[in-house]
Amino acid sequence: MALSGLIRVMERAARKAGGRLRRDFGEVEHLQVSRKGPSDFVSKADRAAERTIYDELLQARPDWGFVLEEAGEIEGDPAKPRWIVDPLDGTSNFLHGIPHFAISIAVQEPKLDGSGWGDVIAGAVYQPLTDETFWAEKSRGAWLHDARLRVSGRRTLSEALIATGTPFQGHGDFGEWTRIFSAIGPQVAGIRRYGAASLDLAWLAAGRFDGFWESDLSPWDTAAGCLLVREAGGFVSDYRGRSLPICDKQVVAGNDPLHSRLHKLLVGALKGPEVK
Ligand code: IPD
Ligand code: CA
Ligand code: CA
Ligand code: CA
Repeated sequence: MALSGLIRVMERAARKAGGRLRRDFGEVEHLQVSRKGPSDFVSKADRAAERTIYDELLQARPDWGFVLEEAGEIEGDPAKPRWIVDPLDGTSNFLHGIPHFAISIAVQEPKLDGSGWGDVIAGAVYQPLTDETFWAEKSRGAWLHDARLRVSGRRTLSEALIATGTPFQGHGDFGEWTRIFSAIGPQVAGIRRYGAASLDLAWLAAGRFDGFWESDLSPWDTAAGCLLVREAGGFVSDYRGRSLPICDKQVVAGNDPLHSRLHKLLVGALKGPEVK
């Protein structure tokens, strides 16, 4: 599948920022690390990557708005799409010298009636250290470069490898996560916590993982990844089972049978109607 103009713009921005991240990786003493919460870190590398992506995307589409993890929301023409950007997903890994982090860029279109934001129509997750670009466009499928992606065909929990994200100090609900983990853990072949939600979802789209759940996410963590999963034939919902146009906060994902089995276990763990 030939890359569309839009995906080419996203890939160029991600590759340019990824080059900066590759240079900064391992240089933690020069990265001016600060905290946004007790254990929520941000560094010069996050900000520089975000600036690079912003400059590239703005040049390509001057009237589109932005939702940027670090700089916040920048309004554009409300009739035009907007970019949703996580310039460095996996900051903790990055700052600890763990080679597992990504850049996530998505495009969300405005609703036709002008009543807010609608579907995510394109997404790219770029992993600088492996030079892999996972990309998807609405109704054009999910791809790793020019190879079509499909979610895995595993149908039983006992053969499924599940990714998740855990709460950390000052962020998330340890009690809730532990209840879900206790329900899902004994049923599955394995659980992984790699520390970059966008890659968890991209790897699910690629059939490397079979399922995923996490709470307390943000649109920049999930916008591209959820489109990748859907375009790879997978299912994504919140903990109530709703398939929202942009996934946010709570996400449970998988191929058809595993999404519903994971969702059922999760709802059971949180006792049905009391799910937040
Ligand atoms: C984090 C990662 C992590 C997830 C956290 C996110 P950041 O993003 O995606 O996997 O568990 O909830 O905040 O801060 O490294 O961009
Ligand atoms: Ca962050
Ligand atoms: Ca993130
Ligand atoms: Ca980030």
